[in-house]
This record gives sequence, C-alpha cells and structure tokens, in this order.
Amino acid sequence: MSTFALDCLVRSVEEGRPFDASAYTDDALFRLERARVFDDHWLACAPEDAASDPGAWHRARDADPRLVIARDANLELCAWFDVCRHRGAPLLPEEDAGRERALCVECPYHGWRYAMDGALLSPRSAREDGAARGLVRAEVQRHAAQTWVRYDEARGERAVHAPPWLIEVANAPISRARSVRWEVRANWKLVVENFQESHHFARVHPALEALTPWKRSSSECDPSRRWLSGFMPLVDGAETVSTSAKLRGRTPIVRGADELRVVRDAYVFPNALYSRQPDYLLVYRLFAAAVDRTVLHCDTLVHGASTDAHRFMLDEVFSFWDRVHEEDREVCEGQQRCAGSRGFRPTGYDASEDGVRAFDAMVAGALTG
Ligand code: FES
Ligand SMILES: [Fe+2]
Repeated sequence: MSTFALDCLVRSVEEGRPFDASAYTDDALFRLERARVFDDHWLACAPEDAASDPGAWHRARDADPRLVIARDANLELCAWFDVCRHRGAPLLPEEDAGRERALCVECPYHGWRYAMDGALLSPRSAREDGAARGLVRAEVQRHAAQTWVRYDEARGERAVHAPPWLIEVANAPISRARSVRWEVRANWKLVVENFQESHHFARVHPALEALTPWKRSSSECDPSRRWLSGFMPLVDGAETVSTSAKLRGRTPIVRGADELRVVRDAYVFPNALYSRQPDYLLVYRLFAAAVDRTVLHCDTLVHGASTDAHRFMLDEVFSFWDRVHEEDREVCEGQQRCAGSRGFRPTGYDASEDGVRAFDAMVAGALTG
C-alpha cells in the first residue's frame, strides 16, 4: 500500500496536531485500520444479553454480516461464522436473531449439521476429518456490558481493559431498556474524536451543556493506552441527564452520594463508548463500514429494580439522547465533507481536547505497533 496517509497520520501525532484529511479519506489507510485496529483486537459486537437462551443466536451484522453469537446446549457463549464448511452456503435465515429449538443448525443446501458451538455433527464421512470441518469460530466473551469477539487469538491483546468505574456499573443488576442503530456519513475516527471532548457542548448541544457544562469536565487516560475516561459534574438541581433532569423514581445504578452527582464516560479501544448517568448507562458500539461511513449501536441499560412504570418515563431520556446523537451526526458529517477539500488543514487541539489527542495517539500506536 501507499504509506503516504500512514506517514501523515504518524507525523501529525508526533507534531501534536490533529490529523490531515487523508486520515479520513484514504482507502488504503482505511483497509490498514480494518486489519490492525479492528481485526487485531477484541471488538464490541453485540449487547451483553445477546443470545441468552440455549439454541439462541444473534447476528452481529455490522461487525461481519456472517458473524453469529450463539448459546449452546451447555449455556456456553460461542461465536462462529454462518458459512457452511461444505461449499460455503449460509446456514441461518438472514434475520438479526433467532432460536434453534433442536440445538443444532442444518445447512439448507446439502444438509450438513452443526452443533450450536459450531462443531460438525454430520455427515460422518466429513466428521472423520476432525475439527477442521467445524464452522470457523471466533473467541467470545462478555465484559463491560457488551459481548466482545476476537477473530484471531494469536494477535492483539489477551484482555479487554476498561476503567474501574465501568466494570463496577457493568456488574450492577442492570438490564437493557432499548437499542437503536444509526449511520453517520463520516470516518469512524471523526465520530470517536467528537465523543472525546465536551468543548463542543455549548454550541452543538445546548441542552447537554445546561446539565453538564463543558468547562467543568476532566479526563484521564489509562497508562496501558487502551481506554480513555471523562468526568463531568451535574449542575445543582439536576438529578440526571434527560429533558426533565429528574430521576422520576428510577433506581440509581451507582453507589455513593458523590457518584449520584456526576456523569462519567469512556472510550474502550477500539470500538466501544460509554456514558454513565446516575440512573442509566449508555453503551455504544461503533463499526467502520467504509472510509466515510460509520454505523453506531446504542443500548440504554437501567437498574433491574426500575419497574415498567419507571421505564415508561425513560422516553424523556431516549428523546434527549436521540437529539444529541443527531446533533453529533451533523457535525461529524460536516467535517467529513470538509476533509474532501484541499482547504482541510487543521492546525491544533484546544487545551481541553486532551482526550482527542490521546485517541489519535492510540490509533497511531495500533497502526505502527
Ligand atoms: S454447502 Fe452446506 S451442505 Fe453443502
Ligand atoms: Fe457531542
């Protein structure tokens, strides 16, 4: 590949300035990112509760159209590709999720059968060749309120690293109240960079700025350089982030009076984002679909003790964030349009944008490491 865009990207980090346009528009660099950033690391692929019953499966379509998370007869979580090892036919219907009551999958083409963990059951003649004929598998784990997949255990990190506050809230009795999916016509790095600073709240998200003013925010970066975290106090009088700013009886998901007064967010390399309010956790998965197109999923998790009546009041949380996501989509798409111009020459980060700077360095490290 041409190394021009990679050289530019590394030089920007060395010189402490934002990326040049080629970081957001170069197809060869994008292919390298797919290989070294996404395929070489644990990837957040599905909600944590995906495929929860024996025989259940969930298609992690935006990670790979054929990647399936499944639960086998022993309740073990498995991940495999929905591609028959005979001659490559799809095994499952094209739906997003389903359940195989017989606890096995049969190919509709010539009838090869597989267990829910991907092992080949029949025909016997092929089975005698051993494990090589089972479905191609990936490693899978549940961690930090998501389901993560790693395609190749020989590459990348052994564990998913996340800030302690996130592990603590992910272990609380929380459950999914809603999931949404949307697309942003912008490079994935613009989307993460946008998430890494609150400097834009005042102009882009006035409703958010009124509850968590950007000047009171702070951030930290893990020394292992695998996550970034931010912290924002709620203004006096606000109990949470929503159109009413009230808890409305919902059970907090945090412990301690101090945590009730703050919002925390995190980026977990390479594709997970989080935002924790006192009474709910937003869990994002980001998928780099093309050099200029990113797919986002967002789950809202609330305390299990929040009853249906309390959940009903979540509409004011959902509508608040739908608007914020739309505001962010517009700014990221605007930057992507500008990245196509020869006038795109960013000069420097604001002092408050240390999270953006740290993210850009993480990307450069993964591409060159
Ligand atoms: S392609 Fe699946 S059995 Fe032939
Ligand atoms: Fe934003």
